[in-house]
Amino acid sequence: MNTFELFVPGRVCLFGEHSDWAGGHRRTNSAVVPGVVIISGTNQGMYARCRKHPGELVVRSTLPDGTVTETFRVPMTLDRLQREAEAGGFFSYAAGVAAYMLDFFGVDGLEIDNYKTTLPVKKGLSSSAAFCVLVARAFNQAYQLGLTTRAEIEAAYQGEIATPSRCGRMDQGCAYGQIPVMMAFDGDRISVTPLRPGGDFHLLVADLCGKKDTVRILSDLNAAFPFAKSPRDAEVHRCLGEENQRILVQARAAVESGDAAGLGTLMTEAQAVFDRHLMPVCEELKSPRLHAVLADPQVAAWVYGGKGVGSQGDGCVQFICKSAAARGELEAYLQGRYGMPCFELDIKRPASIRKAVIPVAGLGTRMFPYTKAVPKTFLPVVTPDGVAKPVIQVIIEEALSAGVEEVALVIQPEDEPRFRAYFQTEVRAETLAKLPPALKLEAERLSAIGKRLTFIPQHEAKGFGHAVLLAEKWVGNEAFLLLLGDHLFRSAETRSVARQVVDRFQAFGDSQSVVGIYEETLARVKHYGTVTGEWVEDDTLQLHRFFEKPTEDEAQTYLAVARHGRSLFFCVNGVYALRPALFGLLRQQAASAGNEEIQLTPALEALRQEEGVKGLVVCGAHFDTGIPAIYAETVGKFVGEVR
Ligand code: UTP
Repeated sequence: MNTFELFVPGRVCLFGEHSDWAGGHRRTNSAVVPGVVIISGTNQGMYARCRKHPGELVVRSTLPDGTVTETFRVPMTLDRLQREAEAGGFFSYAAGVAAYMLDFFGVDGLEIDNYKTTLPVKKGLSSSAAFCVLVARAFNQAYQLGLTTRAEIEAAYQGEIATPSRCGRMDQGCAYGQIPVMMAFDGDRISVTPLRPGGDFHLLVADLCGKKDTVRILSDLNAAFPFAKSPRDAEVHRCLGEENQRILVQARAAVESGDAAGLGTLMTEAQAVFDRHLMPVCEELKSPRLHAVLADPQVAAWVYGGKGVGSQGDGCVQFICKSAAARGELEAYLQGRYGMPCFELDIKRPASIRKAVIPVAGLGTRMFPYTKAVPKTFLPVVTPDGVAKPVIQVIIEEALSAGVEEVALVIQPEDEPRFRAYFQTEVRAETLAKLPPALKLEAERLSAIGKRLTFIPQHEAKGFGHAVLLAEKWVGNEAFLLLLGDHLFRSAETRSVARQVVDRFQAFGDSQSVVGIYEETLARVKHYGTVTGEWVEDDTLQLHRFFEKPTEDEAQTYLAVARHGRSLFFCVNGVYALRPALFGLLRQQAASAGNEEIQLTPALEALRQEEGVKGLVVCGAHFDTGIPAIYAETVGKFVGEVR
């Protein structure tokens, strides 16, 4: 039976606490303003291995301190699951969600081994909601129910409220993972909008080690609903209504534009508004420890702003720090001065390049007759750690090292069984048993790669550009990484070569495509795509021209680039971070190509004219594997120091 891995984070409420249940009062009073919150998944969470189980729900959990619980087992029948849910305790959550999944989707049993938990419990991070989402998702995946994240949230919520524990409706937002999510609450209706952060935010959450009585806070604030009966009640309505909406609109804009300073200032403002309107209503909200830390002038040096967390009171405080380094200093200070345990929360700008395309459908004529037997991308190389791999695997690993999530290989259709056999078929048990531990890990690595692969057939070898164009539908309207199917890279810095190109693409705000380039001798430019341009940074050219395989004369006349007082030549190295406008240009080229091959260089030149393209001189080397003599050289060089 197939086992699969899951990770579900906890969540922190960044803005809008209490407006979730307040918005629920619109059921009875339509004058109440809808609630809105921004939450974010935490770095910490619950890890599990899951698989189907015939007839039973079997759960084992590892607590944050490493203690492993006894195994919980219950037959998959509605009455038994419901009884377990009502009984309360940690496993009641799993039973509650399982009862819902059985009732609505007719699933059978499940085995969940929650083998690691890094989420502190009972710290307002919704560890119970994370567990419920984990169980809902495990059923969804095991039984291929095709539920959306929103539907998983519903299952998790229904499961949790079947237990004696009470949870808010925002808690299950952790189902969206480690990203900020905006949730709106209008009576019983909830809408969820995942946000795309425009930059990195470094948050620190500290446990105030004080006391807070959440039940008291909720009951005092709820007394003002559904209808305000006094001016003080009206203040509560205004704070959780109009004022909250106003701040949330600005907070969303700050998240999406990557404005950390603005977001910090808004946190400080949100706390001031909260204090002004709500503190008089509930003694618990005076929270002396929270206010002492927020007012500490030492703290101000490291942060843009901060506020309480969750129901507020002296539970936890959160800060938007000025940098990762400032966060480190703040953490040390809070621990030393106040004895407060802290944990970090990163909100990261998502990778703008999520997909990579690697065309490997060429005829490989230069490697004939080997290519009559096997595609050249299956030629072996030995990596510096002494492992023998086909070229294609090393290239896919290069793509994944750049942070992409999925890789499409453009292949000759008849090669598909070979690719599937290598990447998507389990190693024979007999072989696996004989492998040393390091190579067993390689087997796991292969199967992880296999899950990220898509195969796109190219029925006729109509050129590199044609192969790229075939990936248009799969890529969609987003930037992508393109790698040649016969070039390997060795970086001379900590980031891989592909990562350097992707990082530079992002550093310019995704505004222009970036191609990896390297210095080449005049004698060899005739073999390669060559570029010229003007330096906009020490290592980056704003390209003025792409020229496919120039003669020496052409190169000298048109393509020389001055650098550090010398006249040099730069060629593309086969790593491209490309904006999707390239596809339209390839299509135009295809329309007028007739039977000619469609090459990439003319489309790149058109893209350059239309949007501009930059060339990054990468820090590292590349190795060709598509020409016999050079392949022979590559094999020796790529392994580096032979062990
Ligand atoms: P090459 O220019 O090296 O062509 O392709 P090739 O066919 O592999 O090799 P030769 O020239 O016949 O010896 C560059 C990359 O584009 C792919 C190749 O597989 C290689 O990874 N490609 C090329 C395609 O996927 N389809 C094509 O029609 C042409």
